[in-house]
Amino acid sequence: MLKLLILVTLSSLIKLMVKLVIKKKIRDFNKIIKVDGDKSLSIRSLLISSQSFGKSVVYNLPKSGDVLSTVNGLKKLGVNLISKNNTCYIYGAGLNSFNYKKGITINAGNSGTFARLLLGLLIKSPYEIKILGDKSLSKRDFLRVISPLEKFGAKFNPNRKGKLPLKILGSEFLKPINYLENRGSAQCKSTVILAALNTPGKTIIKAKKSRDHTELFLRHLKLPIKIIKKKNYDLIEVIGEKQFKSFEYTIPGDVSSSAFFIILTLLLKKSKLKIKNVNINPSRTGFVEIINKMGANVKFGNKKTLYGEQIADICVESQSSFKPINCPVKLNSNAIDEFLVIFLLASKASGISVFKKLEELNKKESPRLKLASKILTKMGVKVKLGIGSIKIYGNPNLDIKKKIIINKYRKDHRIFMTSVIAALTFGGEWSIEDMESHTSSFPSFINIIRKLGYEL
Ligand code: S3P
Repeated sequence: MLKLLILVTLSSLIKLMVKLVIKKKIRDFNKIIKVDGDKSLSIRSLLISSQSFGKSVVYNLPKSGDVLSTVNGLKKLGVNLISKNNTCYIYGAGLNSFNYKKGITINAGNSGTFARLLLGLLIKSPYEIKILGDKSLSKRDFLRVISPLEKFGAKFNPNRKGKLPLKILGSEFLKPINYLENRGSAQCKSTVILAALNTPGKTIIKAKKSRDHTELFLRHLKLPIKIIKKKNYDLIEVIGEKQFKSFEYTIPGDVSSSAFFIILTLLLKKSKLKIKNVNINPSRTGFVEIINKMGANVKFGNKKTLYGEQIADICVESQSSFKPINCPVKLNSNAIDEFLVIFLLASKASGISVFKKLEELNKKESPRLKLASKILTKMGVKVKLGIGSIKIYGNPNLDIKKKIIINKYRKDHRIFMTSVIAALTFGGEWSIEDMESHTSSFPSFINIIRKLGYEL
């Protein structure tokens, strides 16, 4: 038993310590691929099904760290849930039906989405529940969700530190709230929407534009939710305490994961790529607008609508030159997870690109804006970093010849994958630590690179 334990511990340690060495560029390809299921929709479908009545089935869930944390967390809350390969069967018992022992702890791992949205579903919990996360998640801000949830009536301990670990205690006497979401954070907006499900009366949210998966999901399930789209913000009204039936849901491909391969293709000489069945919700495809403004020609084919979400095949071809961009701030929220790879394209543009009002980027799994500036500098790209802004001096002939080490990046999955794409396209000898980090959102990432003909 002890031997087995030592072996398991050793193998997980080794896994965590593996670094990826990349010494040559990838060759051109012409391929059709599929990426893993969308992270945001996966977590939402599990959380929402846990509140429904009856057996829900979710297909095409990625086997990613964040989804695993969600599955394990819900199990700990007493949800009867069986996952087999990429399918999950969830036996919901209705709103606020979690059934757990006193003193439980939920480990959200690396997932900000799971940790924050779950708090929304716990505002009626009769016992204190402790939420913790990994090192990276423990550095992130939770005050942004604590503040509105306190207004509903939930209690937090500690309540002003705003960091994990923290404990939440629900209330039986919840009141609906009027909430202004002005960061453009879909996590904050969704936490409040989920809290509103368990609250009697009408919760009203005025939210800066951000991904609208939660709203579309609840509308698809015919829950009493009203969405009024204004030019600069959305007005959302939710009437709580309405039970709903279980459902089936197939998770489409993740457009944020697709972004890595779209940029890879663009940065090569003569490659072509089709990515099948990807969610192209306009609140997620700001990066396509941005890179198309820079001269890319990313197209959506075979469009359809499923469960209120738009799905398509994404087609992209290599391009020889790119224009710099003064990136419109209004696209920031819709492209928030893709800026790292957009910066790679800007590094090859023929001129100076400017990105502003990106303070939120430093509040992700790592301080992404600061780390991007460090990595681009290592690559030999001139950058000027401001508070929440970056200027990138593009070089169409960028060709790296030196050694580059990527470490101490809080195992941020998107930093890891962006570094791999840079290594495969700009050359140099890269050593990228913590290879496991990509599995929190995109476990098939390395296999897809192999499929594109690269030996790893
Ligand atoms: C997400 C929203 C975004 C995004 C994250 C997933 C979601 O975070 O960065 O990867 O699923 O709602 P914010 O809402 O904090 O901007």
